[in-house]
Amino acid sequence: MEKQKSRGRRLLLVPCPFQGHINPMFQLGTILHSKGFSIAIAHTLFNFPNPSDHPDFDFLPIADGISKEESTEDFITFILSLNVNCRIPFQESLCGMIENQDLLDEIPCIIYDSLMYFAGDVAHHLKLPNIILQTCCVTNLVLYKIYPRLQEEGYLPVKDFTFLPMYNEQVSSQDVVELIKGFNINCKAPLQELLAPRASKDSISLDLVPGFHPLRFRDLPIFNYKNSDALLQVLADFCSLIRYPSAIIWNTIEFLEHSSLEKYQQRHQIPFFTLGPLNKFAPASSSSLLEEDISCISWLDKQRPNSVLYVSLGSLASMDKKQLNEMAWGLANSKQPFLWVIRPGSVSGSEWIELLPDGFVEVVCERGCIVKWAPQKVVLAHDAVGGFWSHCGWNSTVESISEGVPMICWPYFLDQRVHARYLSHVWRLGIAYENELESGEVKETVRRLMVSEEGQEMRQRAMEFKEKVELCIKPGGCSYNSLNELAKYISTLKK
Ligand code: UDX
Repeated sequence: MEKQKSRGRRLLLVPCPFQGHINPMFQLGTILHSKGFSIAIAHTLFNFPNPSDHPDFDFLPIADGISKEESTEDFITFILSLNVNCRIPFQESLCGMIENQDLLDEIPCIIYDSLMYFAGDVAHHLKLPNIILQTCCVTNLVLYKIYPRLQEEGYLPVKDFTFLPMYNEQVSSQDVVELIKGFNINCKAPLQELLAPRASKDSISLDLVPGFHPLRFRDLPIFNYKNSDALLQVLADFCSLIRYPSAIIWNTIEFLEHSSLEKYQQRHQIPFFTLGPLNKFAPASSSSLLEEDISCISWLDKQRPNSVLYVSLGSLASMDKKQLNEMAWGLANSKQPFLWVIRPGSVSGSEWIELLPDGFVEVVCERGCIVKWAPQKVVLAHDAVGGFWSHCGWNSTVESISEGVPMICWPYFLDQRVHARYLSHVWRLGIAYENELESGEVKETVRRLMVSEEGQEMRQRAMEFKEKVELCIKPGGCSYNSLNELAKYISTLKK
């Protein structure tokens, strides 16, 4: 690794090798580089961006020992493997760096993605300053704290929310235990409730997580997660290491998560830097693993303002053939223009769009544009885009909020359900789509967002959020100030 000459403090960034984690880490690197720091990226061999696209950064490969089988494991099991496999190679690389004559005068500061917690462990062991970058929302982290308790009390793994109408927002978890005991003694009334048709979707408000209004048990990242044991293991590892970092950087926006930030801060007496949205501080940087198809921008240029629905499920979510079919006809019948990202391999059983229903492409050729991967930040900032059908990954969520685009929230897994619930019920910037995809409902939901008065109001509110975001990143704004404080703080860390 070449040392970047004549720059400030050396920062070694350790991104988690998935697009939704690589992006915020590279954005942070770009921002800190502009503040005069020298940036090196310690990356796994699995999934890393092309170093030649980032001439300002140095790159340090870490042997990840990931086998072919492990690379197809579920996300969380894969994270566990990475943390086991990378620890020793990372430690050896760091020791090599420290022994290097050039670096004797200054040890690096490690900034690692919270999912790459092996890096924090190694840094702690070698007595190096280290900072966590949290690429998810704060509320998720606050929620993680309640899992061990829920597990101890026998509520996890939660497999079926139909048991949960017993809960009530006002009921403490102790009371819930009593209620569940009561349920076992006399299950007639709750059973009747379960079997009775519900008056409206909102009447399912009884399954709220105590103390976390308006989250329901089904919104918890752990709900129905196929490998909840692995998830609990990652959380336990992660939470046990949280005492190590010198500080935490959040890719969130103060006004969005004020109360969660306060709760978290009360528990962890270390400096916090709230820098979100990182994408607005580093608008030009791209760390896409897939090639962005920029032809969709000239297609957008031909569309009317606010008329296009942008559809994208991020880098991990996938669909089956039936869902693809329902989505396709729902979009076609909505009569709205759409820009649809279908990642290669994201439809099970096909390479790309071979499974789109016969006749679909011809029907919508005027009104639709399908790409393998879009320059999402540019798309969301485009005047023609008036709505975003999203899986609600945290990056997509903050990118959409920072461009004033309201959403249709169709979460896929883990933290995305929390974001979807906040978007639809707290910030009121999105419509929750909670049922199986069905073309009639897809069409109605798209029209609700794109052409109804309700959608118009949401778009108006989204624009107000965008303005607030802009204030945060301007001189004097909270994210702007936090960034300057972070730069000062890093410079004062032990050298
Ligand atoms: C994952 C998790 O799913 C998410 O919940 C977690 O918070 C972060 O890691 P992912 O599913 O890929 O991320 O979603 P998201 O967080 O939205 O990140 C996707 C990134 O890819 C965004 O920065 C988005 O701008 C970018 N993208 C997506 C593109 O550049 N082009 C596309 O066509 C689609």
